[in-house]
Amino acid sequence: MNGKISEKIRYVGVNDLADQLFENQWYIPTGISYNSYLVTGDKIALTDTAAADFNEQFISNIKREIGDRRVDYLVINHMEPDHSALISSVRKLYPDITIVTNARAVPMLKGFNNVCDNIQVIKENDRLSLGGLTLEFHMIPMVHWPETMATYCIEEKTVFSGDAFGSYGAVNDKITDDSETFRLFRDDLIRYYSNIVGKYGKPVNSALEKLSCLDIKRICPTHGPVWEKNIPEIVSLYQKMSKYETDRGVCLVYGSMYGNTEKAAMALAGELEKLDIPCAVHDLCTENPSFALRDVFKYDILAAGGPTYNNDIFPPVRNFIYSVCSRLVKNHKFVSFGSYSWGGGSVRLMNEMAAAHGMELISDGIQFSQAYSKEKCDMKALAGLIANC
Ligand SMILES: Cc1cc2nc3c(=O)[nH]c(=O)nc-3n(C[C@H](O)[C@H](O)[C@H](O)COP(=O)(O)O)c2cc1C
Ligand SMILES: [Fe+2]
Ligand SMILES: [Fe+2]
Repeated sequence: MNGKISEKIRYVGVNDLADQLFENQWYIPTGISYNSYLVTGDKIALTDTAAADFNEQFISNIKREIGDRRVDYLVINHMEPDHSALISSVRKLYPDITIVTNARAVPMLKGFNNVCDNIQVIKENDRLSLGGLTLEFHMIPMVHWPETMATYCIEEKTVFSGDAFGSYGAVNDKITDDSETFRLFRDDLIRYYSNIVGKYGKPVNSALEKLSCLDIKRICPTHGPVWEKNIPEIVSLYQKMSKYETDRGVCLVYGSMYGNTEKAAMALAGELEKLDIPCAVHDLCTENPSFALRDVFKYDILAAGGPTYNNDIFPPVRNFIYSVCSRLVKNHKFVSFGSYSWGGGSVRLMNEMAAAHGMELISDGIQFSQAYSKEKCDMKALAGLIANC
């Protein structure tokens, strides 16, 4: 692989195709990349590093690009270990290297990496000259941690954006996008956003506003492709997601022990299809929740099917609704349904949880006893309410 993004900017990141789960919870069937870049002026800066398992490959990527030249600065935009795990290894290779980061990263550097010296602390708008190239620093807290910042290379009109504009999916040898890349990565961009940064819509919005003052021709995130040709598309997607704006449609999730709630879910999906309402169905017992979360960020209606379990909501469904609520999702409508055998209660509890977090209830929901039947669980009527809301 050739890491040339431009004469002055080189990719030295790695693809992780071995892990099944990112953050040990989000399924990554097409892998993920941990991106890191060299900015090569008279002096050389490296932005971020990679995850712990990739030491050898990461170091050999750096060598491939700059041979025996040394790296003068290590810019730390984000301290999460998927990017910071190899800091000590880089310091070992380049003992005189200066770490450049902001004050909020300093205790994390000590805590994660036991690094306390050779740190240059910068703040908003500070500049660092590399000789021929200039880096400028912009704090973007909570995208995705409080210490996160973006680094802008003025002459290259390039922003190293950290997790912002990142995506799941390994990258191929041609890391910079072409006209098809946005279409190919769109679903994984939304899935990554909804899983990882979805809670931080407001900070993401502030970051977008701040970065909009810069003349940006290239976005280099810490995951996924480098963006040059699809910048308006990706920025507008981020603007939309950060405001929790969605398209018309239903994310229909369910969990079911014995199939009764599942039958109700299928009946609702069938009725929505007849009405031409887009609907994405997810079985929370067999599927990683990352996909259903993605569709919550795509569609304005969440329909949840969960039976009653120990006077509570069947746990996979409870956990999922909780994860939606904890992402402070806004502008959503909610319906629920579920089977029970004696006292019931899951529908009421699902409604309470959704309403308490600002979702609008379209109906009281449908709680039905034991087996599913059209008579006990009128999904045609529920689909009608959804169509008219
Ligand atoms: C471990 C367990 C706990 C349950 N707890 C309750 C309960 O507290 N109240 C109730 O009405 N039904 C309870 N049920 C019954 C289920 O809600 C009922 O069997 C329902 O039809 C299951 O729906 P499903 O076929 O979609 O899994 C429980 C079932 C199981 C297996
Ligand atoms: Fe992160
Ligand atoms: Fe990351």
